[in-house]
Amino acid sequence: MQQFYIQTWGCQMNEYDSDRIRDLLNENNIIETDNIAEADVVILITCAIREKAQEKVFNQLFAWKSQNQYKENAIVCVGGCVASQDGEAILKRVNFVNVIFGPQTIHRLVKMINEVKSGKNKHVVDVSFPEIEKFDFLPAPSAKNKATAFVTIMEGCSNFCSYCVVPFTRGKEVSRGVEGILAEIKHLTEQGVKEINLIGQNVNSYRGTYEDGTECNFAELLYLVAAIKGVERIRFTTSNPHDLSDEIIQAFKDLPQIANSIHLPVQSGSNNTLRRMNRRYTREQYIQLTKKLREARNDIYISTDIIVGFPGETEEEFEETMSLVREVRFDQSFSFIYSPRPNTVAKDLEDNTPLSVKKERIYKLQALINNQAQQYSREMLGTIQKVLVDGTSVKDNTELRGKTENNRSVNFKGDKSLIGQIVDIKITDVLAHSLRGELI
Ligand code: 5AD
Ligand code: SF4
Repeated sequence: MQQFYIQTWGCQMNEYDSDRIRDLLNENNIIETDNIAEADVVILITCAIREKAQEKVFNQLFAWKSQNQYKENAIVCVGGCVASQDGEAILKRVNFVNVIFGPQTIHRLVKMINEVKSGKNKHVVDVSFPEIEKFDFLPAPSAKNKATAFVTIMEGCSNFCSYCVVPFTRGKEVSRGVEGILAEIKHLTEQGVKEINLIGQNVNSYRGTYEDGTECNFAELLYLVAAIKGVERIRFTTSNPHDLSDEIIQAFKDLPQIANSIHLPVQSGSNNTLRRMNRRYTREQYIQLTKKLREARNDIYISTDIIVGFPGETEEEFEETMSLVREVRFDQSFSFIYSPRPNTVAKDLEDNTPLSVKKERIYKLQALINNQAQQYSREMLGTIQKVLVDGTSVKDNTELRGKTENNRSVNFKGDKSLIGQIVDIKITDVLAHSLRGELI
């Protein structure tokens, strides 16, 4: 029996793709090993969102090779966004890579591996964008013993925010057909999945079609997903404020299954910076959206992504971001120092801010966000939370661990039969990175 080893970096889109690769290879009698030394096929799924992530790919490939970590005749495959961005050029830096495939060609991976195996080609590269074809050629996802699952509803992005490489690595926005998505979700819930996480680079602008050609937008899709038997919790990511419609906000009111949190990347609190980023909304419009969300659900948790040190960001512009974070009172959020990316408009903008200043800004911002997130956690003390039990506790495997609707890990005592269920937990203790609770 042939074996494969896979390592995945980057976003949920990559995680989803990796799971589909697992299903695909299993179906072709290549089974997974977590020991790279045993693998006949080694796969690295990569991220290109920032330069650091990209360089990590090359470092990892060289480390595996120089330390002889895999078999001499193993087939080395690189997928994901670095593969898509650099394609054949990867071979110039790492000539021992055999297969280079993109996010849209994972369904062709077995054929590509076989071409190398048969000796027909030493290197095979296919990073093309054959629209949304991959979903028609992948096996139905398996979700044994999983309580939660990602479901890709759209691929790519056509927004061209000026800093972002995604439109170049994942192609233009393409939505998956409605029936295919609903069938996949039904198949997952029949296997016991309780939580569905609808994913895409910009889910709010989902515009799929039914088989008869009728259109369906994201709000409509949410109602269809909520109507599927067994769907107890719905999450979705990532939302673009530009496309967050009143209908989607209404769905938060109508559909109790939608988790009580939303990740809504703002990127900056300064209108000037937002303009240079080509985000197509203002600070005021963003604040208005958060108000509407809180009208629909008064206790909704709002998290965000912020880029610090975008070219030309002045101290005042940065302070506007700080004040927005306070005003919206974001929950746990992500922030990054700007990294210039190939092909993007921003990479040619003048950037005079020293790295040391950017670092100071990000420390300040992260301290504020962490403070606010801790405050939210403290407010959860004594409340009863719906917790999706996803396994045993990392530190003590006699205890269970689960996730609240606002993405906090909770450890508590309970029977292992509860794994995979949504249970009510009273929060009894708030720690730095997790909560403790009691089963109700
Ligand atoms: N530099 C820094 N951060 C970036 N992001 C996207 N592109 C860049 C870049 N060039 C961040 C954004 C996005 C998150 C996924 O990554 O905040 O929301
Ligand atoms: Fe990148 Fe902007 Fe598209 Fe998000 S919306 S993937 S930040 S281009």
